Amino acid sequence: MKAHKLYIRTFGCQMNEYDSDKVADLLRATRQLETTASVEDADVIVLNTCSVREKASEKVFSDLGRLRELKQEKPGLLIAVGGCVASQEGEQILKRAPWVDVVFGPQTLHRVPDLLTARERSGAPQVDIRFPEIEKFDHLPPPRKDGPAAFVSIMEGCSKYCSFCVVPYTRGEEFSRPLGDILAEVAALADEGVMEFTLLGQNVNAWRGELDDGSAADFADLLHWLADIPGVERLRFTTSHPLEFSQRLIDAFRSLSKLVGQVHLPVQSGSDRILAAMKRGYTTLEYKSIVRRLREARPGISISSDIIVGFPGEAEADFQATLKLVEDVDFDGSYVFVYSPRPGTPAAALPDTLDQAAKLARLQAVQALTDATAARTSAAMVGSVQRVLVTGHARKDGSELCGRCDNNRVVNFAGPASLIGRYADVEISGALPHSLRGRWRAAE
Ligand code: SAH
Ligand code: F3S
Repeated sequence: MKAHKLYIRTFGCQMNEYDSDKVADLLRATRQLETTASVEDADVIVLNTCSVREKASEKVFSDLGRLRELKQEKPGLLIAVGGCVASQEGEQILKRAPWVDVVFGPQTLHRVPDLLTARERSGAPQVDIRFPEIEKFDHLPPPRKDGPAAFVSIMEGCSKYCSFCVVPYTRGEEFSRPLGDILAEVAALADEGVMEFTLLGQNVNAWRGELDDGSAADFADLLHWLADIPGVERLRFTTSHPLEFSQRLIDAFRSLSKLVGQVHLPVQSGSDRILAAMKRGYTTLEYKSIVRRLREARPGISISSDIIVGFPGEAEADFQATLKLVEDVDFDGSYVFVYSPRPGTPAAALPDTLDQAAKLARLQAVQALTDATAARTSAAMVGSVQRVLVTGHARKDGSELCGRCDNNRVVNFAGPASLIGRYADVEISGALPHSLRGRWRAAE
C-alpha cells in the first residue's frame, strides 16, 4: 500500500518549528504518515501559523483558499490549521474556510491525531484551542535523534505582556516544564549521540523548577545540571529576556565552558520612554549593565537582539537613541522589525502617527547598522580557530562540509564526510555576509 503523506507548512518562530516537528512525530507514530515537500501528494495538510507580525492571518486565509481546490479534487484530504492564528481565530477559521477539518492551538498539538480521528468518525470539523498547560508534553512520543544537534522545549508561553505582543494571548501564560522531564529528555538524546542542545522558550530565563525536597531551582541551576549530563558538549538557549537575567545566569557564562558564547537578548528600543510604553520592565542603562557584566564573564561573547522601529509615539529622538544603543552595544547581528499593531494588544489602541515610508527608512537605517556591526565581528574571526559542529554538506557546493561555530555562524570548508556529526577545528579564512569560509585542521 502506498504510504500516506503529510505536508506541513510552518510560519514564524523556532517554537513553531519545534511544534511542527512534534506534530510530524505524532502523525508518524499514530497514522504512519511520512512527510512530503509536495502539497499535491499530501493526504494530510497542516498549516502551523504565526501572528506575531505582518498580516499573517490574511496570508493563512489566502493559502486556505488555494487548498480548497485541492480538497475538491481529493475529498479524503484532511486539512488542519494550528499555531497562533488558529489560537486567536478559533471557530472563525471554520466560518471563513469551512473546508478546514481541524483547528488546534500551540498547547493542544498533542491532540491532533485524536482530533483528526474525531473528524473522520463524526463528519464534523473539530476545534480545540485550549491551554491545558503541561498536558502537551506528557502526550508526545519520545524524542528522536535527528543529527548531532537537538532542540528541547523547557517552557511554554509568556507572562510579560509587552504592550505590542500577542504571544501571551496566543500561547498562554508562562509554564515551566518539570525539571525531571527536561533532564530525562536531554539524557535520552545524549545517550543516542546528540551533543549540542538548544533550550527553547519565549523567555527561557523565566524557567523555574522544583527539587524533590520542595526547594526552588532557576534557569542557572538547570544549565549546571544539563552541563553535567554525560555526552552533552554544548548548550545554547533562545530566547532570553533582560528581566530575570540574573547575576547567577551571567556567572554561568564564566563557570560553564559548555555554554556557548552567544546570547540573543531582545532590547526592542534604545529609548527609555518607548521601553516604558512597551512595558518591557527595564531601562537602557539596565540593559547595558547586563551586556557589560556578560562581557566581563565571557570575553568576546556574541550578543544579538530584536529591535522594533515605529512603535506608536516613537519620535526622531527616540529613534536616534536606538541607533546609539545599537552602536554602543556593538550587537553581533539583529532582527529589526517595523511595528505592526496586533489586534487585542494594548498598543493597538495607541495612535499610530508615523507613515509607512518613514518607518521603512528607520528599519533600513537600523538594519544597515546591525549588519555593519555583525560584519565587524565576522571579519574579526578571520584567522581564529573555531570548534565547529559539522552538520552536513555545504548547501551551495555539496563536495564541501558545513558546520556551526560557537556564535552560531555557518562555516563552509573542505573536509572528509566522516567529520559529519562530529566537532572539528576549523581555521576561519574568510568572512562573507551570511557565512564564513574555513580550513579544516586535521588533528596532528
Ligand atoms: N520572547 C520572544 C518574543 C517573540 S516575538 C522570542 O524572542 O521568541 C519575536 C520578536 O518579534 C520580538 O522580540 C519583537 O521584536 C517582534 N515583535 C513582536 N510583536 C511585534 C509587533 N507587534 N510588531 C513588530 N514586531 C513585533
Ligand atoms: Fe512577547 Fe514580550 Fe513575551 S515580546 S513573547 S510579551 S517578552
